[in-house]
Amino acid sequence: MKPPFIPDDAPFTGDQKSWLAGFLAGLQSAKQMADQKNASLAATAGQVAPRLDILYGSQTGNAEGIAMDAANVARSQGFNPVVQGMDDVSIEDFAQMEKVIFSVATYGEGEMPDNAELFWQSLSASDMPKLPDMKFGVLALGDTGYDEFCQAGKLIDMRLEQLGATRLVDRVDCDVDFEDMAEEWINTTIPLANDGDAVATAIPLQAESAVVKSIWNRKNPYPATVTKNLLLSAEGSAKEIRHFEIDLGDSDLSYEVGDALNVMPVNDAGLVKSLLAYFSLSADTVLEGQERTLGELLTYKYEISTPSKELIAAVEKIADHDAFSHVFKNGDKEALADFLWAKDILDLLQLTEKVSFTADEFLGLLKPLQHRAYSISSSVNKHPGSVHLTVAAVRWSYESRQHLGVCSTFLADRVAEGDKAGIFISTNKSFRIPADDAAPMIMVGPGTGIAPFRAFLEERQVRQATGPNWLFFGDQTREFDFIYQDELTAMQEQGVLTRLDLAFSRDQAEKIYVQHKMKQHGAELFSWLEQGGYFYVCGDATRMARDVDQALADVIAQHGTMNTEKATDYVNNLKREKRYLRDVY
Ligand SMILES: Cc1cc2nc3c(=O)[nH]c(=O)nc-3n(C[C@H](O)[C@H](O)[C@H](O)COP(=O)(O)OP(=O)(O)OC[C@H]3O[C@@H](n4cnc5c(N)ncnc54)[C@H](O)[C@@H]3O)c2cc1C
Ligand SMILES: NC(=O)c1ccc[n+]([C@@H]2O[C@H](COP(=O)([O-])OP(=O)(O)OC[C@H]3O[C@@H](n4cnc5c(N)ncnc54)[C@H](OP(=O)(O)O)[C@@H]3O)[C@@H](O)[C@H]2O)c1
Ligand SMILES: Cc1cc2nc3c(=O)[nH]c(=O)nc-3n(C[C@H](O)[C@H](O)[C@H](O)COP(=O)(O)O)c2cc1C
Repeated sequence: MKPPFIPDDAPFTGDQKSWLAGFLAGLQSAKQMADQKNASLAATAGQVAPRLDILYGSQTGNAEGIAMDAANVARSQGFNPVVQGMDDVSIEDFAQMEKVIFSVATYGEGEMPDNAELFWQSLSASDMPKLPDMKFGVLALGDTGYDEFCQAGKLIDMRLEQLGATRLVDRVDCDVDFEDMAEEWINTTIPLANDGDAVATAIPLQAESAVVKSIWNRKNPYPATVTKNLLLSAEGSAKEIRHFEIDLGDSDLSYEVGDALNVMPVNDAGLVKSLLAYFSLSADTVLEGQERTLGELLTYKYEISTPSKELIAAVEKIADHDAFSHVFKNGDKEALADFLWAKDILDLLQLTEKVSFTADEFLGLLKPLQHRAYSISSSVNKHPGSVHLTVAAVRWSYESRQHLGVCSTFLADRVAEGDKAGIFISTNKSFRIPADDAAPMIMVGPGTGIAPFRAFLEERQVRQATGPNWLFFGDQTREFDFIYQDELTAMQEQGVLTRLDLAFSRDQAEKIYVQHKMKQHGAELFSWLEQGGYFYVCGDATRMARDVDQALADVIAQHGTMNTEKATDYVNNLKREKRYLRDVY
């Protein structure tokens, strides 16, 4: 294992000076927020501040945070901002709105976030009334790594135009580095919403406190100490699932069950070395215009494993590789994904002898190295000052070279107990245990999907919640993959885990998955829902969560004696009541 390190030019130093600077910045922003709120109160003192609706579609809090920032700016400019999640607004109320701005992320493969899905169903319906009196603006959040970049925002923007609403401003599509663009968009859009009826006037500070954002964020992660790195899956498993415990130290960070922890990885030294060898350059080379050595840039700054769209296109252009060019040019995304599957950046550089870039050109084709999110698997009330993760190490072999998932193997291999890792928290307000401690919880979490449910059970245990808890868990084999078995058994004995149904897919000839267990116990599952139960799903989005969604509808149709349409209404109602919640990836 390598010794712990925090690079000098990493985005944090962890020393007191930087902490103090961050703390002061936090105080300053708190004061700014309070000033803005007071300005809006001033506006309302003399006249009624005009309403500005701010709607967000968000899963991990980025779009929601932007909505809150927009509200603060709007207040400072004399508006009465009303911020709501998109599914919290009825389509009838929406149709009455005059000025609306949206901050919306994209999920799945170009889909709406879970908290915007029902809104979108109504907005896109053929009987949606026209909106000639509405003025709107859309800020779309996404990631250019996905095929359908910012698709949710694009759809909303297009649909509102179709319905006759007027754009206040052109839509802006933000990539993962969204903060600066979002700020600029807010500062441009809000004044455009002002018809002259919003007037800001300063009045003295009120006692009401402003919300202070954590100083630890994507650009300034907290250097936390990893205190435990344990292998959960048994020796002999095809998987490598690990349990991590991370000390929150003096960060002041806290979390609620349902939140995610983001980890800022450092690239694998072996891959950096291979890339340097490919370019025949040494690690201490400093390229013109760069302040850091090439070795540092490849280690800390750039994503050097998953190829960016720009790199893929640039390689295709020069590679003279028939099969690649065929799938690249014919527009068949699945065929292109199949061709690219398992190939990392180095594989593309080595595709044919014709592929050749200077190191400068190469850096220009890379994306910045990003954090990865992990569902928190602990309750801070059971483990004060500590946060736990349940992580599957991603490793595969292609053309006899071992390939490593950047962050999961950073945690698994390159952070020893006692080492530091940069972290920050994403709150996920839409993935919480029921406020009512007596409400039943049904949790479906195969594989690493168990993570937040370990946290939910711990939290319910600490709260001495009386509501029954039912977990559907599974993985490949009982012998090797029954992670947290001892804890789950203890929770069953203590009466915290009321029911545990297990689906080990490879212990028999036929696959058995969690959805098969749901159907097998469908009558009881339906009766838990009828008693006000909450239904949660976590884990693989593309296969498992889709099949579980279908199984849920099937169970409701069969045991509630409903046709497909009625069962869909029942599921939609669960979503509306925030009793069907997902954390899928
Ligand atoms: C909200 C949220 C919560 C999450 N919670 C968890 C969690 O609790 N636990 C957890 O383990 N993960 C979780 N994830 C996933 C996690 O964020 C990372 O995506 C995961 O750890 C992989 O990241 P990586 O950097 O190791 O791999 P990357 O370097 O990002 O590589 C991943 C890529 O490797 C390729 N790949 C993967 N497997 C293979 C294979 N067998 N063969 C060929 N190619 C392959 C695929 O192209 C894949 O996209 C969560 C994600 C989100 C968004
Ligand atoms: N998109 C992909 O192709 C793919 C593949 C693997 C992992 N992943 C991702 O890898 C990460 C970690 O995965 P993980 O190790 O936590 O678990 P996982 O790969 O999701 O596996 C957990 C269990 O789910 C089963 N499973 C497979 N398909 C299923 C389906 N359609 N419905 C229900 N269960 C199904 C698996 O069975 P079997 O393995 O026996 O089929 C296994 O028993 C996640 O991010 C996941 O999304 C993605
Ligand atoms: C599982 C998953 C799927 C995603 N799918 C897309 C996508 O199809 N298109 C896109 O542009 N961005 C996609 N994104 C990126 C998110 O839209 C982006 O990270 C956004 O900032 C999240 O905002 P939020 O925190 O408000 O949810 C996806 C992210 C995740 C975690």
